[in-house]
Amino acid sequence: MQQHFTSHSADLAQPRSFPWIADGLALGGDYSPEQWPEEVWQEDVALMRRAGVNSVNLGVFSWGLLEVADGEYDWGWLDRAMDLLHDNGIGVNLATPTAAPPIWLLQAHPEIATVDQFGVRTSQGGRLAWSPSSETFRRFALRFVRALAERYGSHPALRLWHVSNEIGNENARCYSDETAVAWQAWLASKFGDIAALNDAWGTAFWGHHYTSFDQVLPPRHARTSHNPALLLDFERFTSDALLGHYLAERAVLREVTPDIPITTNFMVMNNPGVDDYRRWGEEVDLVANDHYTIGADPERHGELSFSADRARGVAQGRPWLLIEHSTSAVNWQPVNRAKSVGELARNSLAHIARGADGALFFQWRVSSAGSEQFHSGIVPHAGPDSKIFREVEQLGATLRALAPVVGSTVERARVGILFDWESASAWQAGNKPTRSIAYLDLPLALHRALTKRGIAAEVVRPQEGLDGFDLVLVPTLYLAAPGVAEQLTEFVRGGGHVLVSYLSGIVDEHNRVITGGYPGAFRELLGVRVEEFFPLFEGQTVTLDSGESATTWTELLRTEGAEVLSSYATGELAGVPAITRARVGDGTATYLATKLDAPGIQSLVDDLVALAGVPPVADVDAGLEVTRRVSSVSPEDSFLFLINHTDAPLSARASGVDLVSGVAHADAVTVPAGGVVVLKEKR
Ligand code: GAL
Repeated sequence: MQQHFTSHSADLAQPRSFPWIADGLALGGDYSPEQWPEEVWQEDVALMRRAGVNSVNLGVFSWGLLEVADGEYDWGWLDRAMDLLHDNGIGVNLATPTAAPPIWLLQAHPEIATVDQFGVRTSQGGRLAWSPSSETFRRFALRFVRALAERYGSHPALRLWHVSNEIGNENARCYSDETAVAWQAWLASKFGDIAALNDAWGTAFWGHHYTSFDQVLPPRHARTSHNPALLLDFERFTSDALLGHYLAERAVLREVTPDIPITTNFMVMNNPGVDDYRRWGEEVDLVANDHYTIGADPERHGELSFSADRARGVAQGRPWLLIEHSTSAVNWQPVNRAKSVGELARNSLAHIARGADGALFFQWRVSSAGSEQFHSGIVPHAGPDSKIFREVEQLGATLRALAPVVGSTVERARVGILFDWESASAWQAGNKPTRSIAYLDLPLALHRALTKRGIAAEVVRPQEGLDGFDLVLVPTLYLAAPGVAEQLTEFVRGGGHVLVSYLSGIVDEHNRVITGGYPGAFRELLGVRVEEFFPLFEGQTVTLDSGESATTWTELLRTEGAEVLSSYATGELAGVPAITRARVGDGTATYLATKLDAPGIQSLVDDLVALAGVPPVADVDAGLEVTRRVSSVSPEDSFLFLINHTDAPLSARASGVDLVSGVAHADAVTVPAGGVVVLKEKR
C-alpha cells in the first residue's frame, strides 16, 4: 500500500498529503553517477536492486557539470541517470546542486564567496563557498533551480527535492561587506531604533555606543572578545540568512512543481549557523537529518539515540528521514574508525526505532578521486564482495520485513529534555567562567541514563508545551527564553517534576546576566540562590556527602526554601549544598549545582524517574535499548524495537511476533549479542 505523509510546511495554506518517497522504508544513499563511466551505472543499478535500494539522493554537487558555462546547460548525463533509475524502480531525491558553485561562477563573481573574520575570502576548490547574503549568488542559484525544476519536474523518478546540502555547514558566518549591509538591515528590523539596540546589548560597556545601524559591523577579528549580545544576534542573523536561501529555492520549486515535496538535510547535532532547527522544521515538507557517529566515542550509540530523538522533536513527533549516515568510516575525523560487524544495522535501525522512515547513506559507490575518496559507501573500493555490501544487503532484507512500520509514530514519552542551540550559542559567545563545559555534555549524560533504564524521552525546544510530561529535565539551558521559567513553574505547580542543572537560566534573550543571584530565571522556582561560581581545574574532584563524586563545576549556593539532598564533603565548598529540591504546589523542582560523574547522574535520574512514576517502555535487561512505535492506521498495533549494544545475549519481557523471523514470542524474547529484534505487538 502506498503510504503518504502530511506536510505542515509554513508556505502551504493547509496541511497537504504527499506520497511517501519509497514503497516501504527508504534505503539508499547519495548517488554520484557523474563520477563514473556509464558502463559502471549498469552495475550500480543491478547492485541497488540486489541490496533493495529504493531511494537515492542524486546530483548533490553537480551544478558545474550541468551548467557548464554561464547559461549553458548539459543535461544529457542526468537525463540518462534519471531514466535508468526509474527503469529500475528507484526513486530520486533530486538535489538542487547549489551547494557547490561551479568554478566559472566563482571566477566570474568571486564576491559570491564567504569572507572570514580576518577578511579572507574563500577560494575555489571546496564546496558551499557561497554567502547567503550574496545577491549575485542568489540570482545564479535560483536561475539554475528553475531550469532544473522545469526539466525534471514531471520526471516519473522524481520523489523529493533535496535543497542544496547541509545549508550552513561550510558557509555559516560570513563577514563580508555585503553581509554587513544585510546584518544592519536585520538589526534595524529587529530593534526598530538604535537606542533599543544599545539598551538591549548594554553598549555602555567599553563605550560601544552606536548612533546608527550602519555603524554595527559583523564581529570581525578584534583581538578581544566581542559583546556576547552582538555575537548571539549575529548567530541568529546567520541562521535567518541561511534559512532565507532555503526559502528562496523552495519558492521556485513550489511554483514550478507544487506536487513534489521539498526538504533539505539538517544536522541537528551541530549548529552549523542554524540556531533553531525546530523553526526550520516548519519550513520543510519532511524533516531530513544527517548523522555521523564519532568513532572515538565509546558511547556513540547514546549520542546517536539523542540525535534521533532530537530529529523527531524538530519534526514535532512526525516521521522523519535519516537522509545521510555512513556505512563505516568517515574521512574527516583524526582517525577514521571502521564500523564493527553489525554496527551498520544497529545504527540504521536505532534511527528507525526513534521515528525515521528510512535510512540513507552517504554514499552509494566510494569515489576513487576527489576529497572524499576514503569515505565509506555502500559499494566500497573492494566492490560488492565485501562486509559492507553484504551488511547493506542484509539491512535491505530487514527493512522489507519492517515495511509495516512506515508512517507509525514513536509513542509519546513522559520525560522531556529541553534543548536548543540558541542557548548553546549564548554560552559559546564571549568569555565565560570555564571553557571545560561543552553544551552537549549534560543533555547526553541524562539521556544516556534514561536509555539505560529503558525510559523514553522527547528532546524538545524549551518553548514547546509540556503537556503529557511527568518529568522535565533542563540541562545547562544557559539562556532561558521568555516564558520558559513561567511555563516550568506552572508545570511543577500542577504536579510535574523538574530537574534544572547548573548553568541554566543565567542570561536573558539578549545574553545579559539576570542579576540577584544565579540561576536568575529559575531561582524562585528552585528555592536556591547562587552567589558565586567555583569552577574546578581539570583533574580536580570533589566528593558529595551522599558518596558521589563531581568535577568541573561547583557553586557557592544557599537554599531559600529548598531542602538539601546532598552537600560537598570535600573541597573549598565543603558543607555547601550541591543538590537541592523544592516542593512547589503538587510537584518538585530539583537543582543540580555540580557536574556529577556517570554513577551520580544515574542515581539522580533513577531517583527522579521514581519520584515522577515514569515506567520503562518495556521491562528489559540493562544494555538493551528499547523504543516503541505505534501504528497510525490501527493504534492497537505497535512495534517494539530492541537493540542489543553488548556482546552478550539480553532479554526483554515482551510479547509479539518478530517481524523479521516471523517467530511469535509469548512473554519474553532474547536479542542476540549486537543484534536487533523488532516485535509487532498487539495491545
Ligand atoms: C556530510 C555531507 C556529505 C558528505 C558527508 C561525509 O556532512 O553532507 O556530502 O560530505 O558529510 O561524511
